[in-house]
Amino acid sequence: MLDNVAVVLAAGQGVRMKSRIPKVLHRICGREMIGIVVDAVRAAGFQTTVVVARESNGIHRILGDTVNYAVQDVQLGTGHALLQAADLLPATGNILVLNGDVPLLEPATLAALTREHLTQGAVATITTATLDAPGDLGRVVRDRSGRVSAIVEKAADDDAARCIREVNVGLYCFDASWLWENLRALTPSASGEIYITDLVAAAALQGRRVAAMPIDRPDQIVGVNTRSELSRAEAVMRQRINEQLMMSGAAITDPATTYVDQGVSIGMDTTIYPNTHITGPSTVGEGCEIGPNTIVDASVIGNRCRVEASVVRGANLEDGVTVGPFAHLRQGTHLQAEVSIGSHAEIKASRLGRRTRSGHFCYIGDAQIGADVNIGAGTVTCNYDGLEKHHTRIEDGALIGSGSMLVAPIRIGARASTGAGAVVTRDVPPDALAVGVPARLRPCRLPHKGSEGGAPAR
Ligand code: UD1
Ligand code: CA
Repeated sequence: MLDNVAVVLAAGQGVRMKSRIPKVLHRICGREMIGIVVDAVRAAGFQTTVVVARESNGIHRILGDTVNYAVQDVQLGTGHALLQAADLLPATGNILVLNGDVPLLEPATLAALTREHLTQGAVATITTATLDAPGDLGRVVRDRSGRVSAIVEKAADDDAARCIREVNVGLYCFDASWLWENLRALTPSASGEIYITDLVAAAALQGRRVAAMPIDRPDQIVGVNTRSELSRAEAVMRQRINEQLMMSGAAITDPATTYVDQGVSIGMDTTIYPNTHITGPSTVGEGCEIGPNTIVDASVIGNRCRVEASVVRGANLEDGVTVGPFAHLRQGTHLQAEVSIGSHAEIKASRLGRRTRSGHFCYIGDAQIGADVNIGAGTVTCNYDGLEKHHTRIEDGALIGSGSMLVAPIRIGARASTGAGAVVTRDVPPDALAVGVPARLRPCRLPHKGSEGGAPAR
């Protein structure tokens, strides 16, 4: 019967990646490869054991205690890696095994393999694909009657194997009692490694049944050994993500230049224009227009927002916000509903209240800004005195004149105004007008548009 137990082999360093980062920690569309593989295994309903190297903090950080860990101290090959998990796994029943570097296999394929294994009553069932360019993959050797008799590694050194186009995908199902007995009996190959794939010849020699499940979706079988293969896997994953988003109602005008991480959600009737990257844990609501040429990272965007040619990182945009072109919203930016940010604005660690507007180039940092504030072109919150950062507070309905320098810590009262070019070094009370360098309070207020009793910026 089906035991729903799986082992993921992930102890290899991945020397061909030429990287200090262990191979399975390289990311594909924002998620580490090992996380993607374990997600698929779990989605197919398996309890998972992961074989890791001694130094594997990175893997523990990602998978936590959702899996069991077996440690392979020295990387002596895939067969040796699997043996390290023996003590954690049942002695009988069936065990699914897969390489941790084949990240595009789908849960349905894992389930299908186990079914095939049970139907065939085999001691080992392998997954195969037939490729035009089989590269370095293990070749599946069949006897005259078509039965699988071996998997040959390093086909380049083997004349007969080189022209075989059916390859081993790296996903297997074994009868556990047969597996443990025969895995222990494997001897190292010419390379010194103990190959899991040698189990196939062992079974065939014993006259035991080896089954093979072919898959005809080459997009699923990409194994990642090099950076070039990593980029191929990412291209496939990107396409899958975009397809899913479009299925659920997002419009993507050019999927080839739309880069969305796994786990990003995008609402119905939102349009993503070309060359847009939506990464990190981000959410975009319904009816938005994002892009072209935009980066949204680790941000929450509400409904009916428009973000054009801008960079938005670690920000929260409520409904009906417009941003850009060429704005840079940094960590801790919170724009309440219907805020409008125009071109060449940089904002960080600041909250802007409803309907507040900054149409043209400005820097706003460490500021709390109320509702209906108008921030004139070229306004700067001077938040840094060379030693410390200071806060700016601008209350509801204030009108900040063009080119105002607000030297923090500073408070601009409700409905107060600053004149164009004012260098404001002292708090401005509500309804007051401050002008000049340094800014002085002026006794009278001039009416300003849209706010009874307001004042213009000069
Ligand atoms: C392996 C198969 C090959 C198959 C290919 C599919 C073997 C001998 N060959 O080759 O037939 O076509 O996968 O992608 O299995 N690992 C360990 N400990 C080790 C060595 C490897 O845990 O000592 C892990 C790696 O982290 C990796 C997986 O096993 O996730 C596969 O190892 P890798 O060296 O990439 O095998 P391939 O050469 O790709
Ligand atoms: Ca591999």
